[in-house]
Parts: sequence; structure tokens; C-alpha cells
Amino acid sequence: MSAASLKPGPALFSCRAIGHAFGSREVLKNISLAAQAGEVLGVVGPNGAGKTTLFEILSGRLRPSRGQVFLGETELTRLPLHARARLGIGRTYQSPVVPEHLSLGEVFRAARQAYRPFLSAHDAEWAAHQVGLAWRPAALAGSLGALDRRRLLLACLLMRKPKVLLMDEPAAGLINAEIDAIDGILRYVAQELQVAVLLVEHRLELLAALAGRVVVLDGGELIADGLPEQVFQEPRVRAAYFEAEAA
Ligand SMILES: Nc1ncnc2c1ncn2[C@@H]1O[C@H](COP(=O)(O)OP(=O)(O)OP(=O)(O)O)[C@@H](O)[C@H]1O
Ligand SMILES: [Mg+2]
Repeated sequence: MSAASLKPGPALFSCRAIGHAFGSREVLKNISLAAQAGEVLGVVGPNGAGKTTLFEILSGRLRPSRGQVFLGETELTRLPLHARARLGIGRTYQSPVVPEHLSLGEVFRAARQAYRPFLSAHDAEWAAHQVGLAWRPAALAGSLGALDRRRLLLACLLMRKPKVLLMDEPAAGLINAEIDAIDGILRYVAQELQVAVLLVEHRLELLAALAGRVVVLDGGELIADGLPEQVFQEPRVRAAYFEAEAA
């Protein structure tokens, strides 16, 4: 682990020596990383590098074979997803799946009442506003385009004022203008709402603009950790990333 990850004092969110195997297949090896409030930490690596598996472990959907996950000094490793959500860890998925036949009002109500304390309609309206989603409670979730689906899912997390957001390819399936919109939203969420955003993203130019720091996974190993412009120049990263992308 590089010095960049080891700032003095406990990080807001961190993991230590995470290892994971599916059967006999080792897909994560000794992964340690740390993120601070207000930071966007990019997570990159070729297909199959282990990024989503790492997020499954950090969010609590999957118990790692080895290692630990922390929020501040509190160990989360054995806590399930819903307990971590209550502590302020939010997660979005590669595919923005929304309940197609529910209205936005119904989706927001379900999110508000997912667990106690229940939130008010005002909280939901505030969250929609944060992500630039028009307040149209009667509209069907299934009528939303790709960007607004992402906005809706993010608003459902933001209304709970999370400390950490794990975002798995939030720009997947979006066109350029929409990617700019997501970029703006993530920047706002990190800087203004002081969330630690961990961001899996393939577009290096987006990460270079948005992430203060990136970690690179390759074959389940963390091969680089540092400033985007430095990390993307490292020969090992270029070999792992660009050769795999070109293949
Ligand atoms: N449930 C599972 N059972 C067995 N193997 C799995 C499972 N989930 C993922 N894998 C394997 O683990 C490795 C890492 O997969 P993962 O989805 O974490 O990669 P990724 O970096 O997110 O890739 P992508 O960029 O394609 O989303 C891959 O080889 C994948 O085939
Ligand atoms: Mg993935």
C-alpha cells in the first residue's frame, strides 16, 4: 500500500488485506485501500480485475475470505448489507435497475420507509433536487431514461445522508452529455455533501478529471495507488489496462 492511502488518523472508510476466492479461484489478493470524506477515489482495472467483487465485499453483500472492512475505527466485516446501509454506506450497481411499474412517488416512499427512522417527503424532494431529478411523483420509473434512472437510484441513497457511496460504473450506458451530468453530480456529492465516493469507471479521462486518487486492480491485485496522472503513466498500469482494453 502506498503512502497516499495511509494518511495519519483513521480514514473515513477503509479495507485491509482483503482476499477472496470463488471456490478454488482467487479473485482478490491482499487489497488495502482508504478513502476520506469529500474524496473521489477511482477504482480502475480491466474486465474481470475484481472491481465489482471488491464492492460486493465493501458493501456487505459478500463476506471476504480474508481481511477487514472499517468505517472509521468500527469494523464492519461481519455486518450484513442492511446494517452497513444504516451506518451510512450506500451502493449503486452496474445496471440501473428501477421498479418499472412504480411511480417516482412510490419509489421514493419505499426508500423513505425502508427502515426507521422513516423519512419525510421533504427529504425525498431534497435528494431529488441534489441530483437534478425533476420532482414528478406521478411519473412512472419505467418512463425514465438512463440518466434519470441513475439519478433516481442515487437520490434514494442520498436522502439517508450516506457517508460513503460505492458507485459501480455510474456512467455505463450514458452518452457524452449525460456523462458530463453524472460527473457534475458526483463532484457535488463529494465536495458539497462531503461523501467519500468510491468510483469504478473505465473512462480514464473522466477519472483524471474527477478523482483525486485512483487505485488500479489487475487480476485481483492492487498494482497502483496514487494521483491519476501519475498512475496512468506507470508502465505496469499501461500494460495491464491498455493492452487488455485493446484486446
Ligand atoms: N459469483 C461468482 N462466482 C464465481 N466467479 C465469479 C463470481 N463473480 C465474479 N466472478 C469472477 O471473479 C472475477 C472478478 O470479477 P468482477 O466482476 O469482480 O470483475 P470486474 O473488475 O468488476 O469486471 P468488469 O469490468 O467486467 O465489471 C472474474 O474472473 C469473474 O468471472
Ligand atoms: Mg464489474
